[in-house]
Amino acid sequence: MSSLKAVILAAGAGTRMKSKFPKVVHKILDKTMLDYVIESAIEAGADDICVVIGHGSEIVKKDTSYNVEFVLQKEQLGTGHAVMQAKDFIGNEGNVLILFGDTPLITGDTLAKMVNYHNKNKNAATLLSTIVEDSTGYGRIIRDESNTFIKSVEHKDATESERKIKEINSGMYCFDAKELNIALTKLTNNNAQGEYYLPDTLKTIMAKRLKVNAMISDIPQEILGVNSRVQLYQAQEIMQKRINYKHMENGVTIISPSNTFISKDTQIDCDTVIYPNTYIEGKTTIGGNSIIGQNNRIVNSVIGDNVNIQSSTILESTINNNTTIGPYAYIRPNSSIGENVKIGDFVEVKNSNIGNNTKISHLTYIGDADVGKNVNFGCGTVVVNYDGVNKHRTIVEDNAFIGCNTNLVSPVIVENNAYTAAGSTITKDVPAYSLGIGRARQVNKDQWVNKK
Ligand code: UD1
Ligand code: CA
Repeated sequence: MSSLKAVILAAGAGTRMKSKFPKVVHKILDKTMLDYVIESAIEAGADDICVVIGHGSEIVKKDTSYNVEFVLQKEQLGTGHAVMQAKDFIGNEGNVLILFGDTPLITGDTLAKMVNYHNKNKNAATLLSTIVEDSTGYGRIIRDESNTFIKSVEHKDATESERKIKEINSGMYCFDAKELNIALTKLTNNNAQGEYYLPDTLKTIMAKRLKVNAMISDIPQEILGVNSRVQLYQAQEIMQKRINYKHMENGVTIISPSNTFISKDTQIDCDTVIYPNTYIEGKTTIGGNSIIGQNNRIVNSVIGDNVNIQSSTILESTINNNTTIGPYAYIRPNSSIGENVKIGDFVEVKNSNIGNNTKISHLTYIGDADVGKNVNFGCGTVVVNYDGVNKHRTIVEDNAFIGCNTNLVSPVIVENNAYTAAGSTITKDVPAYSLGIGRARQVNKDQWVNKK
């Protein structure tokens, strides 16, 4: 097996996006277009990736999640010129894939097939083509009577009869690295657009009597390039469907796939049901038989089995089995919620651990706290974790009972089986099995209303 690298072209401005940001950093679901292409290259076996950047190069570097090499193309003089900038990266060993940063739907699967086809046929270059109804604007694939590949002609350079051809150049290739580099040195810009065309390298390679061919993909969707916000949406719909259908095939019920937005990186076990208007992002995992109700946003979190989440936001946290969350809960990063816990409405939890069987039913803020098992929080509890300068931790031990409207002024410990009286501001530790009362005693003024 020869080695495989990938060069991804991403220097263009993407004018039709009407954006201050370079085109390839626009997102489909939770990921930039460029990240999808990088992932497909990796899935196809590329172990070294170089991205050619130009417009908004610093932004592209910053927004790319993978450790790739970047080369700068100062002026955009064509796809061939863009690849020339990666000459040193391409080197002269093994194969190299050429991909576009604005073609996010290409799959690792199709690229792997192309590499396979390339190797099996001992090609020096393999172009990925496909058949489309409307081939306007694309490079056309010209074949002879015996169906042998002859060349790829740009729309603007094509004759009337060539323009009728529906087999198009996807812009993606697998090249023998050495032959590509040699052919790049021979490119000229003597054409309708005055650009250095990458497809022209194929002619040079064929002139050496080396094998060049086009592999026809039967999934034209995969080569859809994104040039505008409308196309970004169209690509998103396809990606969303691809992801959601895969989950449904694995036994997940998605009530309305077009209104459910799940990351490519998320995993979900069978018999979980997902209601509409839910966003699940990043490397989230969700167990089986859970209900992810309507209007949730879950980011980079671990959700267990038999969990029920309604209208809530969960960020970078863990929710264990049999727990219910929401409606309207906000679980902020670095929280771990135990098993069989109830987090009810308008409860915010941040950077805290909540033990099994604990109930935090309503209107409560728990920040920087370690809460034990079987604790009951009354309505309206506030962990006062911030003194204006530093954050402090609070500890509530097993079986404690926090009365309604308690302030727990951190750092403070409520020991096991202790109670706090409703309305208390707790500033001192409450010993085990004790009642902490921290509030003014009630005074009734007799007949005060009649006297005033
Ligand atoms: C290219 C192909 C065409 C193919 C089509 C598929 C050439 C000459 N034409 O045409 O055969 O059918 O893609 O979509 O290759 N880029 C750079 N630097 C440049 C020029 C382009 O990085 O100097 C990048 C762009 O950012 C873009 C990609 O290369 O991501 C394609 O460039 P674009 O100008 O859109 O090529 P097309 O004219 O669409
Ligand atoms: Ca294009």
